[in-house]
Amino acid sequence: MITLLEHVLPPSAEATPEGHLAIGGCDLVRLADEHGTPLVVYDEGLLRQTARAYREAFRVHSPDVDVFYASKAYFGMAMLKLAAEEGLGVDVASGGELAAALRAGFPPERIELHGNNKDAAEIAAALEAKVGMVVVDSLDEIALLHRLCRERGVTQRVLVRVTPGVKPSTHAFISTGQLDSKFGFSIEGGAAAEAVAACRAASGIELAGLHCHIGSQIFELGSYPAAAAIVADFAASVGGDDLGIANMGGGLGIAYTDEHEPPSIEHFADVVMESVAREWARVGLPMPRVQVEPGRSMVARAGVTVYRVGTVKRILDVRNYVAVDGGMSDLMRPMLYGSIYQPLLANRADDEATGTFRVVGKHCESGDILVPEAHLPDVAVGDLVCLPATGAYGISMASNYNGVTRPAVVFVDGGKARLVTRRETHDDLFARELG
Ligand code: LLP
Repeated sequence: MITLLEHVLPPSAEATPEGHLAIGGCDLVRLADEHGTPLVVYDEGLLRQTARAYREAFRVHSPDVDVFYASKAYFGMAMLKLAAEEGLGVDVASGGELAAALRAGFPPERIELHGNNKDAAEIAAALEAKVGMVVVDSLDEIALLHRLCRERGVTQRVLVRVTPGVKPSTHAFISTGQLDSKFGFSIEGGAAAEAVAACRAASGIELAGLHCHIGSQIFELGSYPAAAAIVADFAASVGGDDLGIANMGGGLGIAYTDEHEPPSIEHFADVVMESVAREWARVGLPMPRVQVEPGRSMVARAGVTVYRVGTVKRILDVRNYVAVDGGMSDLMRPMLYGSIYQPLLANRADDEATGTFRVVGKHCESGDILVPEAHLPDVAVGDLVCLPATGAYGISMASNYNGVTRPAVVFVDGGKARLVTRRETHDDLFARELG
């Protein structure tokens, strides 16, 4: 089973002599007994290795590349500190993520603030922290940022987020006409040109370049050259030496099941760097400083979630339900996007799959399904179900629905485990209640 999931589980995954799944040299059964379940376990070695792989893959093309970790994928303090230590920048998408990045010790110049509806308090916090970059997303925001900069007598560097009208898919890339999106400024129709002009006219704003993010969980890398070509044409059409940065966003896909074959980080870097170099040269502009913002591909594979089975319900001639002690509150993705995960039993990692089970959560919702059709050994109460590849957009999107407390998080490496986020308590649930 473990061999089958070799591109889904962290490479450190192995079965112990007792048949337990171990990651980073730590037995998940022992961790579950010690810390309770659901438990999110990250392979710290893989997190660091991935951060280095990203930096290295771009550095072979140019020293002038910035890799920003998109913290929305998982903004636990331990991860942010790790990203800062590994020399990454960080993309924050709200005042909360900004506060987290500052608390983790990111140098402010390595922080970029995103968001389609940043409010005055968020922008003010970014200015006070002296963040390196604000990625502007609307004309209203440009006006607000200009006013807040003038009031403080400061200048803020910005990128204009443009929507190139490229719609990525796993099969082919399609250039759409008018992009219907709440994010950024459409190149087609002139909104992006208007935004560039507005930034140039605002004395509190220093325009530094352009930004585009074409989507997420992308396998078909042909979407990036397509976007680069459109953004380069746009850069040439609005001219100026002030567009020295091209931020190509995030989006590299990962394997959630053993059927997925995502491109490597190195391939992603090659495609991004070669297409930017080619397209900027084509339009007669100097090579810009390239930035990227990976989220999912930085953390997804390093994280697994371990759940304890509480009930097994066999509905004759219909289906077998396996209910675990978490669900949509710690992993929204199956319910929100129909995402498929491929589970295994952490306490019987070597056992053959013998049946099909629907793995469900404990929430009061019929749709609280983690895996619709899981192939597993004959599951019994007390077994530990492990969902691989839950490291991105899992706990960062968690809720307290049904008053369910959010899981603890453990980092493992070289046979050592450290608790980095304690399990939420009922007192935490009531901490904000004043009534
Ligand atoms: N940059 C910007 C401007 C973004 O909006 C995003 C993701 C990223 C970078 C990082 O993209 P990544 O490398 O992770 O694909 N909750 C969804 C994913 C939402 C992505 C939102 N933006 C999911 O669970 O699939």
